[in-house]
Amino acid sequence: MLKKSLTGALALFATLFLITACNNGTSEDKQSAENAPKDESDNQKKTEPANKQIQLPQEYLQKNDTSDSVKMLQRAVNQIGYDINPTGTYHDMTTWAVTDYQMQQENLPVTGVYDDVTRDALKKSLKNATSIEPGSGLQKSGNNSDAISNPHEILALVNKDNALPEGFEPINLVVPDVRFPFEDFLPKKQMRQVAATAMEDMFAAADNAGLELYAQSGYRSYDRQDAIFAANVQEHGEKAANNFSARPGESEHQTGLTMDVTSPDIDFKLTVEFGKTDEGQWLKEHAAEYGFIIRYPKGKEDITQYQYEPWHLRYVGEKAATDIMEQGITLEEYMGEN
Ligand code: DAL
Ligand code: ZN
Repeated sequence: MLKKSLTGALALFATLFLITACNNGTSEDKQSAENAPKDESDNQKKTEPANKQIQLPQEYLQKNDTSDSVKMLQRAVNQIGYDINPTGTYHDMTTWAVTDYQMQQENLPVTGVYDDVTRDALKKSLKNATSIEPGSGLQKSGNNSDAISNPHEILALVNKDNALPEGFEPINLVVPDVRFPFEDFLPKKQMRQVAATAMEDMFAAADNAGLELYAQSGYRSYDRQDAIFAANVQEHGEKAANNFSARPGESEHQTGLTMDVTSPDIDFKLTVEFGKTDEGQWLKEHAAEYGFIIRYPKGKEDITQYQYEPWHLRYVGEKAATDIMEQGITLEEYMGEN
């Protein structure tokens, strides 16, 4: 811990020094005069790394991306105290660092992806030499089971083989400003802020297209899923129940990134007929534009291990959603788990 703080302090000091050197013409001139470089290549050696170290990629980056931009991002997060191997691949550790950093910033959506708002925040942190304590937002390995280590990232793969950590509760749950077929507040109206905003945009676009989407069931706690699964087992038997109902800890509904949607044409039910309604068809075509995928598609039951659910929308961000929906694949395939 002491070593980490010391490394962090040194990194911050170095960043502060480099930024000051880059931004303050007078002190730079003074330094140049005192330590005049012997020749031009020597001069480059002294100035180029300083500028490079505070560069930030311009493009959106996410898990599994491989590029020089990812390397640039890894170097940038190391400047504020992380210790990521700059491999150029956006691996679990990079996702952890980005998520952990986002969790330590006020009003920054926690996604695990590198987007415009994260770039702006990082830019400020680098400029101000803000102190980051790696792991104080998201512990590096918060559980000692087989559960997934980062349930906050929007690309988190939660399924029968990848459970959420025990006691996991999502952060920033809010009720999206969309239509529900019932009035009263129920916890299932909630989603994580980042998904709720996207859902509002999607409902507004569907409204403009003359459609009547209704949100039916979003966030469910572990205990709520436990009760639902138990009731389904009681009625259908365990095997049949687990074909359409997740075991507690294995439901995406617990992440707060999912909403089941429906329409008046099918009496607000969650049935496969929804896929044939105008609303279901429109979602298949347009959900990705708002960052949502139809998580359990028809014909992919072997991979998802759940029946076709045209109503179950999962937020993964626009980039991943577009790739997934255009390629007609599942999140499992996209994340290389199948
Ligand atoms: N219906 C999905 C599989 C769930 O229960 O989370
Ligand atoms: Zn669902």
